Amino acid sequence: MTKAHILLAISTAAASATSNILYDGRVRYSMHSSELDASTGPFLTAVKGQNESASYYTDFLGHSALPTPLWNENGLPTEQVISIKIDNTSVFVPGGGPPQYGFRRTELIAQKDENSTALDAEMETGVSVFHFSIKADVLRPLNYSHEYQIVFIEPNDGTHVFGIQLGSPFTNPTGQLPVANAHSFKVLDHALNVLFTTPFVSHIWHNFAIQVDWENRTLMVSYSTEEFPLEAASSIIPNPTVALGAVGDFHFGVLKLPLVNPKDSPVDQNDVVHHGIQEGTTEGLFYSGVFVKRQERGSDP
Ligand SMILES: *[C@@H]1O[C@H](CO)[C@@H](O)[C@H](O)[C@H]1NC(C)=O
Ligand SMILES: *[C@@H]1O[C@H](CO)[C@@H](O)[C@H](O)[C@H]1NC(C)=O
Ligand SMILES: *[C@@H]1O[C@H](CO)[C@@H](O)[C@H](O)[C@H]1NC(C)=O
Ligand SMILES: *[C@@H]1O[C@H](CO)[C@@H](O)[C@H](O)[C@H]1NC(C)=O
Ligand SMILES: *[C@@H]1O[C@H](CO)[C@@H](O)[C@H](O)[C@H]1NC(C)=O
Repeated sequence: MTKAHILLAISTAAASATSNILYDGRVRYSMHSSELDASTGPFLTAVKGQNESASYYTDFLGHSALPTPLWNENGLPTEQVISIKIDNTSVFVPGGGPPQYGFRRTELIAQKDENSTALDAEMETGVSVFHFSIKADVLRPLNYSHEYQIVFIEPNDGTHVFGIQLGSPFTNPTGQLPVANAHSFKVLDHALNVLFTTPFVSHIWHNFAIQVDWENRTLMVSYSTEEFPLEAASSIIPNPTVALGAVGDFHFGVLKLPLVNPKDSPVDQNDVVHHGIQEGTTEGLFYSGVFVKRQERGSDP
């Protein structure tokens, strides 16, 4: 290491520990799942089945599970694992809209002071990096014949500034399922190009950091597993189709798309939000290490 490298490493470590954190969704051991029901903490919990509580679908696992070791302090974890599940009751009914019978979904949305919109305005300027770590819930596996959207930033137009996808992308008509790379994470840009893909291996944490330049409209992906330092997994890639000035809510969880139901009308067969086949199985994912950091242009993630 040169002297410059050492100085950079020290300043990066100090900065990441304090003021550069724009949003912290790491669940400290003092937090209890009941806070999810009030939707008062770091998470807006509205996106779930209407007839069950938020804590029915989402749990903090206390000391019974280990979070990603990437953010351990002095070798010890400082946060709880978040378990997010869907089942057949996970039909979201948006305000003023019909029930979304095509989807099954449970998502947490980043918020601060019970206001996700205010947080979006704060964390989605300049360059910011969205951190999250994902692990398989082996007792509640996904069905890789379906498409899952598991992390995304959604502006009002329903598009995604970036997204993480698992499974087999929805198609009409339905093709051969599951597709060859169904068991891999796909990091998608706004136009749904795949920027990075890596196998979703069970029993280990997969750490992602997505750097978003909100003014220059670029993305950059970093990735590692377990305790290994994040490494660049893409170059800085233009994301030109996102509307200039667009910001949106930061979602993470499990959103399962349907398969086409041949019994539906041709119009309904394309309406993935409200129609299609769902098996109604209980499925889930584990999350930890969720936070958003301010980034200086040109520095390492
Ligand atoms: C799942 O829910 C849908 C919609 O409420 C219902 O039509 C279907 O029968 C349910 N399936 C199972 C397996 O319970
Ligand atoms: C939720 O409860 C309402 C009222 O009982 C019922 O009409 C609806 O089908 C239920 N939704 C689900 C997904 O079970
Ligand atoms: C949330 O923040 C937005 C943007 O700052 C503001 O316009 C809105 O009034 C806030 N909502 C509440 C309920 O405070
Ligand atoms: C996964 O989905 C496919 C397509 O609907 C279905 O045939 C299969 O039975 C499902 N598998 C499980 C374990 O539910
Ligand atoms: C971002 O855009 C500004 C102004 O157009 C430019 O000067 C700068 O080099 C760009 N930075 C990066 C990292 O692309």
